[in-house]
Amino acid sequence: MEQKNRKDAHLLLGQTLSFEGDPFFEGPTAAQHRRRGAVLVYDGVIIEVDEAETLRKAHPEVPVVDHGDHLLMAGFIDAHAHYPQTGIIASWGKRLIDWLDTYTFPEEIRFGDPEYAAMAAELYFNLILAHGTTTAASFCTVHPESVEAFFSEAQSRGLRMVAGKTCMDRNAPDGLRDSAQSAYDDSKALLEKWHGVDRLSYAITPRFSPTSTPDQLAAMGALWAENPTCLMQTHLAEQHEEIDWVKQLFPEARDYLDTYEQHGLIGKGAIMGHAIYLKQREIDRIAETGTAIAHCPTSNAFIGSGLCDVQGLNQRGIAVGLATDIGGGSSFSMLRTMAAGYDISQLRGGILHPAQLLWLATVGSARALCLEDKIGNLAPGMEADIVVLDLASTPAIAQRAARAEDIWGAVFPTIMMGDDRAIAQVYLSRS
Ligand code: GUN
Ligand code: ZN
Repeated sequence: MEQKNRKDAHLLLGQTLSFEGDPFFEGPTAAQHRRRGAVLVYDGVIIEVDEAETLRKAHPEVPVVDHGDHLLMAGFIDAHAHYPQTGIIASWGKRLIDWLDTYTFPEEIRFGDPEYAAMAAELYFNLILAHGTTTAASFCTVHPESVEAFFSEAQSRGLRMVAGKTCMDRNAPDGLRDSAQSAYDDSKALLEKWHGVDRLSYAITPRFSPTSTPDQLAAMGALWAENPTCLMQTHLAEQHEEIDWVKQLFPEARDYLDTYEQHGLIGKGAIMGHAIYLKQREIDRIAETGTAIAHCPTSNAFIGSGLCDVQGLNQRGIAVGLATDIGGGSSFSMLRTMAAGYDISQLRGGILHPAQLLWLATVGSARALCLEDKIGNLAPGMEADIVVLDLASTPAIAQRAARAEDIWGAVFPTIMMGDDRAIAQVYLSRS
């Protein structure tokens, strides 16, 4: 990863890809591709994106880094992940509830140890940056130490990151439960310390309705109302067994979404992970309130959850981001995640275009996290978190890309078969 002195202007040359509209509504022409483009960066901010020749002539004194045929685009944004689950990624043979009990909770208990949490945070950031992900919205564990470790490491690397203390006051083992009051107090102290500091944002984080009492959900709703610039992240309608459990635990609720709605936990800034099995009322309320959804296709396949209707949700105007859901998800790579998103769209019969996949992983996720004015696009005024993709990173990809007739043919083999080997370079706005 190249570290530049950010006070020096520089011109990055290569193919460039930006979005001027939403490809779910406007089709692939919403994307602007330049075969020989340039990005002018100054003080960690994108100043101009244009043809290489134009920008070189306009700024002859500015040093150039030429990436040749590589593709420059916004760094990937993972709209939903669990950094403490890094160590248990690819754990075999369970569906959601058993997977949580067998693999996830025993690992999360270890994050009460600040040294363990710090080591895990360092490893997680090394992994995601190597895969071209420059922003993630991560759940931490119930322990404030796990949030401290995440934000401290992100801050020291100058990253734009979102995270929050996972709150659970029931249906979780000893060592992983808080209470309604302590979840409120600890989350409040953490958000007062970290939210809005450097490039960090706090997300109030009840894990999901089965592990929070109504009192705890109400406390989280109150905290969010008191701190409306924070985000709110949780899980929604991921598996049938989970939905049945929610019905038993909240017999008076109209549906799963209502368990959050009754406690002030929907609206702009709320990000619901998964959201696969939604009733019409839930879709309508999500659309009306500006609630966002994080689509987690590798996880939805790996834990056996199901096929989320991304096309339908987008067409309702719902903000959908793309997410790994590490470690329910089976890859740190947003390229692998896009590939799974494509596969799932095929299984549903609503095929996603490469422009839509790349948009979901950048602008879509940024919008879900209410960060679209800062990150997610190669455009003037955006923070310069930029990924440089090698579109011929393996022999299999190279031979397929060589037959491409346009940018979509050139980039689709990397979407479907690429991984961290396709990440030629990552530039960070602040480092
Ligand atoms: N639902 C509640 N907790 C989790 C989690 O850690 N991962 C996934 N995939 N779903 C959840
Ligand atoms: Zn999750």
